[in-house]
Amino acid sequence: MTQLRHDDGSDGAAGDGSPAGNADDPGALRLVPIGLVRTSMATKVEAPRQPAAASAETARIELLPNRNFEHALEDLAGWDYLWVIYWFHLNEGWRPKVLPPRSTTGRKGVFATRSPHRPNPLGLSAVRLERIEGLTLHVRGADMVDGTPVLDLKPYVPYTDAHPDARSGWLEDAARAAQAGTPPDPLGAWQVHLEPLAAAQADWVRQRTGLPLRERVEATLALGPQPNPYRRIKREGEAFRLAIRDWRMRFAVDGRELRVLEVRSGYRAARLATAEDPGIDAHREFINRWPSQAP
Ligand SMILES: C[S@@+](CC[C@H](N)C(=O)[O-])C[C@H]1O[C@@H](n2cnc3c(N)ncnc32)[C@H](O)[C@@H]1O
Repeated sequence: MTQLRHDDGSDGAAGDGSPAGNADDPGALRLVPIGLVRTSMATKVEAPRQPAAASAETARIELLPNRNFEHALEDLAGWDYLWVIYWFHLNEGWRPKVLPPRSTTGRKGVFATRSPHRPNPLGLSAVRLERIEGLTLHVRGADMVDGTPVLDLKPYVPYTDAHPDARSGWLEDAARAAQAGTPPDPLGAWQVHLEPLAAAQADWVRQRTGLPLRERVEATLALGPQPNPYRRIKREGEAFRLAIRDWRMRFAVDGRELRVLEVRSGYRAARLATAEDPGIDAHREFINRWPSQAP
């Protein structure tokens, strides 16, 4: 059994040379978080599906104090990317077969995917290291939700970690299907274009709320337009609707190009009138500015 201890690790943790075992249960492995991820994504649906889809997102990894981690961080600043190993703390249970968002050929064995629903819920993300300040690492490209416990950090070492010509398993089925003109290809052949209205609205949302909406839309739609609960895409008449946090984007499919037509608030009119949710003022201002986008 794998256990995650949520304490400051002061007994038998970091740097004391004790084995990562547990005397009561010889099969158990004891893991103690070294810190937490701090991002603006509070829930699983808000988090990007992989670091590459989050390259515009800034995040912090805050290491715990009083654990000698200042010394452990020495010499790390010279690396551009880090591997972050973490715990999918919001998931319970796991599934042997899962349906990945990119699959065009059905369910896949979980070990052949990067699904968060695993027997040991360990996450692995290569994030861009921007700078280190004390015990805080400023990074880009984090696909973890706020509060995710971090278990380890390692430098991303291109000469040994990067294998650009490696095969991609079932992801290649999707690419072949697209070439044959059969089901829609989620593998990046899609061009995403924001119409002037949508571009102005996305830029406004970024300025007003800090959410890099344009980058999130481009990264999500680059996988294709097909309705998908993971990517929160639905059909809406002739067009489609993509949800990113509490914003909705209407887009149209034009050959291999996806045209994002407009941004709308995800709030219903009644809630918009009365709710006191954090962040709702930005939606009210948005609708004052673009009244035709009122729900
Ligand atoms: C597809 S997984 C990939 C994660 C990592 N890059 C990997 O390959 O191990 C990314 C998704 O995990 C979910 N997620 C992120 N942090 C989580 C957490 N702390 N607990 C549960 N699910 C989480 C979010 O829904 C996010 O979109």
